[in-house]
Amino acid sequence: MINIAIDGPSGAGKSTIARKVAEKLGFVYVDTGAMYRAIGVHVMRHNLPTDDARAVISVLYDAHIALAYQAGEQHILLNGEDVSKAIRLPEASMAASNVSAIPEVRAYLFDLQKNIANTTNCIMDGRDIGTVVLPDAQVKIFLTATAEERTRRRCLELEQKGTPVDYDTLLTEIIQRDYNDSHRAAAPLKKADDATEIDSTGLSIEEITDIIVKMAEAVL
Ligand code: DC
Repeated sequence: MINIAIDGPSGAGKSTIARKVAEKLGFVYVDTGAMYRAIGVHVMRHNLPTDDARAVISVLYDAHIALAYQAGEQHILLNGEDVSKAIRLPEASMAASNVSAIPEVRAYLFDLQKNIANTTNCIMDGRDIGTVVLPDAQVKIFLTATAEERTRRRCLELEQKGTPVDYDTLLTEIIQRDYNDSHRAAAPLKKADDATEIDSTGLSIEEITDIIVKMAEAVL
């Protein structure tokens, strides 16, 4: 199987680019952030604090996560229910960041991620794909952009979806999430030694997509 790993902070453009690369190569796009978000939603629905490891673990194994594809779009199922919309609500972002710091949550999702990569040509995005989940991926990308640029993009995206948010509030939240994601003990966000770093500030989606497609074609 050919696997492409794409890691980086929130809002760097990973999902948009990974989706386009997948389309061009005929690969499956796997958004692992959606899996952490689904666990966060599951814990919130139990009215438990997402930053309390014991509480999270007490309901973790009741969360059955599956991916389904409709017209090339990934849908995420939590115990059979399509929660693709619920996981994008703002409160699901912090919940995902909280639960993702818990090693048991990471181990639980690791098996699911590994299984998909072993059976399909895929481009998988996340924080620890090149370092932990798919250390042998043939192509590894670490995609970055400044926090301000990422906030601008996310603001625009949410505005277009009809749920505008305040720029400064979002910037503070993005900086906080970056800090959480890169300072946690379990699989912190960091570039794999053999990953190619691409700073997406000032580059178009098409330009970055082309770079990654060319890298993948070289190993196909
Ligand atoms: O990519 P995203 O914003 O949907 O991710 C949601 C949260 O999940 C984010 O705070 C980091 C975490 N995450 C992770 O720890 N490991 C991954 N492979 C993917 C996401």
